[in-house]
Amino acid sequence: MPRIALVTCRPGPEISVDRDLPVLVGALREVGAEADAVCWDDETVDWSGYDLAVLRSTWDYSWRAAEFLAWAERCGKETRLANPAEVVRWNADKRYLGELAAAGVPVVPTRYLAPGDGADGLPVDHEYVVKPTSGAGARFAARYTPDEHDTAAGQLARMHAEGFTAMVQPYVKGIDVSGERALQFYGGRLLHASRKGAVLTPGTPYDSRKVAHPGLEPWTPTPAELAVAERALAAVPRAPELLYARVDLVDGEDGAGGEPRVMELELVEPNLFLSLHTGSVPRVVDAIVAAAAG
Ligand SMILES: Nc1ncnc2c1ncn2[C@@H]1O[C@H](COP(=O)(O)OP(=O)(O)O)[C@@H](O)[C@H]1O
Ligand SMILES: [Mg+2]
Repeated sequence: MPRIALVTCRPGPEISVDRDLPVLVGALREVGAEADAVCWDDETVDWSGYDLAVLRSTWDYSWRAAEFLAWAERCGKETRLANPAEVVRWNADKRYLGELAAAGVPVVPTRYLAPGDGADGLPVDHEYVVKPTSGAGARFAARYTPDEHDTAAGQLARMHAEGFTAMVQPYVKGIDVSGERALQFYGGRLLHASRKGAVLTPGTPYDSRKVAHPGLEPWTPTPAELAVAERALAAVPRAPELLYARVDLVDGEDGAGGEPRVMELELVEPNLFLSLHTGSVPRVVDAIVAAAAG
């Protein structure tokens, strides 16, 4: 009987409820596994008592990144951690988009402004997005027109003061037409896909809480989306060791029908949206049980 930890975090004002978690715990127990939902920062947990720890909803990690990465490394020594700590470390910093671009994967064009870089490089001729390299749920993300320079510079200054590196991207207009598609992979194969609308509305302050998945619905990926997703995954260090992955895509500059580009590659704690895809539960369970057996 495999012993499996599904790793989550403590509830809090900035944390949404993980609806996938009870479904997975129940489904794993139904096939005879021992499954517990446990918090990553619970110091009473003996990780070595599990055959596998699967990261599920550690949704506070983006603002506790150093602490979380240190924990992942420790946990990965005491048990098998999925995804592996090294992958988690690589994926926790969105500078990986630059690496994907260098490997020839189409990504949303991105510039990075680290603390000390100042605000001189903000675009003056197009709408743009400022967001942190360590982020989730659109936390600390906002869009600006060139005449909102001072507000954007204020966001940059606060992020830099708090030690965050900022990313500056053109606002991808295609997202208002065709939305953002999330292609979910589990056990090395496409599991299912979903589509959602644009999150950033004009004038919404960066530090307000956003609706993270507006208008979420099931989606059938196009061949072009699948091809870009597979190229992105092939470029991940230690790609064969991935248990799960989510590739978020938007249509490039030319709007709907343009080349899909990677907005985000989620290898840490992807929301699986199982309530939209109940038929996917057995495949997730099979992949987790197989991973626990090593
Ligand atoms: N360059 C962009 N153009 C248009 N919308 C964007 C852009 N960057 C982010 N967004 C919006 O903000 C949301 C959150 O950004 P994302 O990069 O996915 O970070 P995270 O989901 O980790 O917070 C996206 O789902 C998208 O709706
Ligand atoms: Mg995202």
